[in-house]
Amino acid sequence: MANTSSPSDAFSRPGLYGAAPPELVRVPDDAVQFSPLVPGAARLEDQAEGTLSGFSLLAPPGTVERRYTLALALRALRPGAPFTALAPKDKGGSRLGKELASFGCGASETAKRHHRICAGERPAGLSGLDEAIADGAPRFVDALGLWSQPGVFSWDRADPGSELLVRHLPPLRGRGADLGCGIGFLSRAVLASPGVERISLIDIDRRAVDLARRNIADARAEARWSDVRESGTGLAGLDFVVMNPPFHDGGAEDRSLGQSFIRRAAEALRPGGTLWLTANRHLPYEGVLQPLFRSVALKAEASGYKIYEARR
Ligand SMILES: C[S@@+](CC[C@H](N)C(=O)[O-])C[C@H]1O[C@@H](n2cnc3c(N)ncnc32)[C@H](O)[C@@H]1O
Repeated sequence: MANTSSPSDAFSRPGLYGAAPPELVRVPDDAVQFSPLVPGAARLEDQAEGTLSGFSLLAPPGTVERRYTLALALRALRPGAPFTALAPKDKGGSRLGKELASFGCGASETAKRHHRICAGERPAGLSGLDEAIADGAPRFVDALGLWSQPGVFSWDRADPGSELLVRHLPPLRGRGADLGCGIGFLSRAVLASPGVERISLIDIDRRAVDLARRNIADARAEARWSDVRESGTGLAGLDFVVMNPPFHDGGAEDRSLGQSFIRRAAEALRPGGTLWLTANRHLPYEGVLQPLFRSVALKAEASGYKIYEARR
């Protein structure tokens, strides 16, 4: 398993971004993980220029996010150090070679298992990195009235399911949590109620957690970078949980992810506490909610989304 130690320990060590299939790229055991989707990983944004001895990068699918990540990785690499960047062909892989070339970085390109794999060495001179880094950096999005960043969930527009939930949320009271909080869209609405004493925001995406902290300047809120599925919430006796659970993992639909969010919510709630959930209509969450909650009510259904209130 790749290392998640701090950038200062990473001097002259290889970097890794994401979980590239091991049959496609060999990752050294001492590689430092930089993906914001791996809790505890080092921050590529803060890695000093020219300090890494190699880099393996499973490039993200969004164009702006991918160019940003490639630019950060190239900046952090020592001149002459080897790199491998790969992506599924239909998720940016077919553009990787051209994108690297646009930074002045030549690479040999191979195709394997529906991936494009570009390998080369970091040249001494590079161009266009600063622009790509500026394009992919956090920014204030007027349409949301929130700080956001290309790559986080629904980064430049409100998710219709989350909007529907906000329209149906009653004023909540007491202590609660926002599981898979993203940039804090739901928590902002929850905190409009003066009866809320405390809310814990949790997300697996470090960028989202950083942005949520920036967006929610409220002493009643605390945000944490962690994997709800693996580590649980560490919370108990809550009065409420709000969530728009994820149903994609690594780009593929994974219904078990939302189902484990529901189990985590049930564990964290006190008897009588409520879960407010928004979900795409096609997702089969009733079967998971029913045995875990005393009552489950469908509160709204519109534009392909359902809102549930489930009482523990
Ligand atoms: C559908 S989005 C909802 C975001 C936000 N609550 C909203 O309504 O706009 C789901 C969020 O769950 C996060 N997530 C995915 N898997 C997770 C996990 N295992 N643990 C914690 N958060 C996770 C994603 O990063 C994403 O921000």
